[in-house]
Amino acid sequence: MQIPVARPVIGQDEISAVTAVLESGMLASGERVAEFERNFADFCGTTHAVAINNGTAALHAALLAADIGQGDEVIVPSFSFFATASAVSMTGAKPIFVDVNEQTFNIDPLQVENQINPNTKAVIGVHLFGQPFDAKGIKQICESHNLILIEDAAQAQGAICNGEKTGAMGHMGCFSFYATKNMTTGEGGMVTTSEKALNERLRLLINHGQSEKYLHTRLGYNYRMTDVAAAIGLVQLKKLEKFNTRRRKNAYYYDTHISVKGLITPGVAQGMHHVYHQYVIRLTDEFPMKRADFMEYLKVKGIGTAVHYPIPIHHQPVYARANEPDSCPVSTRLASSVLSIPVHPLLDQKELAYICDAINRVN
Ligand SMILES: Cc1ncc(COP(=O)(O)O)c(C=O)c1O
Repeated sequence: MQIPVARPVIGQDEISAVTAVLESGMLASGERVAEFERNFADFCGTTHAVAINNGTAALHAALLAADIGQGDEVIVPSFSFFATASAVSMTGAKPIFVDVNEQTFNIDPLQVENQINPNTKAVIGVHLFGQPFDAKGIKQICESHNLILIEDAAQAQGAICNGEKTGAMGHMGCFSFYATKNMTTGEGGMVTTSEKALNERLRLLINHGQSEKYLHTRLGYNYRMTDVAAAIGLVQLKKLEKFNTRRRKNAYYYDTHISVKGLITPGVAQGMHHVYHQYVIRLTDEFPMKRADFMEYLKVKGIGTAVHYPIPIHHQPVYARANEPDSCPVSTRLASSVLSIPVHPLLDQKELAYICDAINRVN
């Protein structure tokens, strides 16, 4: 049996939608992009959605739309994908790393409060692995300190926190549609917002700062999505709820069938509708194998795994400062003990049972 850790679900519908765009001869941003933006905004419950060519560009454009740059500080969790922080650096602002909750892997509101100073302009909360962060706690802090809240929802399309969809909780929500995400456009991204002024600024920023054809009123970028990508996105968005239901079912199966000592299955905070972009287990000292040996053991059995993420961002060479005490010890501990196992929608019952059996045989 060969079971990859992640696999995009692409069917005939996506192939036909792309073929139709190719046959139309209109390949750049056009009607498909506009339709995808409308449908995605409706799905999230926001007034606007701006399609972008990837999730990193979405974060970069959102920060620029909020006027963040040189001299500003933006609070980010250290346990995330690198782009959460690098997008801040791309604006000239400084990412300030905070630690996460060990059970949910998500940003800890208390830590955010401790890092606020007069230079702080924004907080990026990450809905890591598909579980929403504590939006209520983070929003309260942002409101009382007049900070912009940006959601990094790259891994959480369709996740819900106490009735509110990701992308609708902050001033802006940033999504990625990379190939292995819960829904994909190959590469792609989106920024959602309900603020008219942010929507207008985002549209300028992703299109060379052009307010009219060949009139450039601010510095901008070419971050546009193509109609080819949007055509895939329109089909995938229709299937997203079905994909997420499968992911949640697979996760429930693991929750109730992994029984080996020394492995901790993911914790879900109250009120969170987790969409399991990744199913991330933690190995404790009680587990009889080292992580690398466990990965090798599963690989031999044909089971793909991955480590998200092996180095917390505050320890990445571009950000690490030598001889400083560890500012985010939980992130550091997680980086050395987490392991993602397959949870994608294409897994069947036989494969789930096979994976649990392989894991439970370790002793
Ligand atoms: C949490 C997080 N933020 C941002 C990104 C960046 O998205 P992209 O790869 O589409 O640029 C990713 C992508 O993996 C991500 O997981």
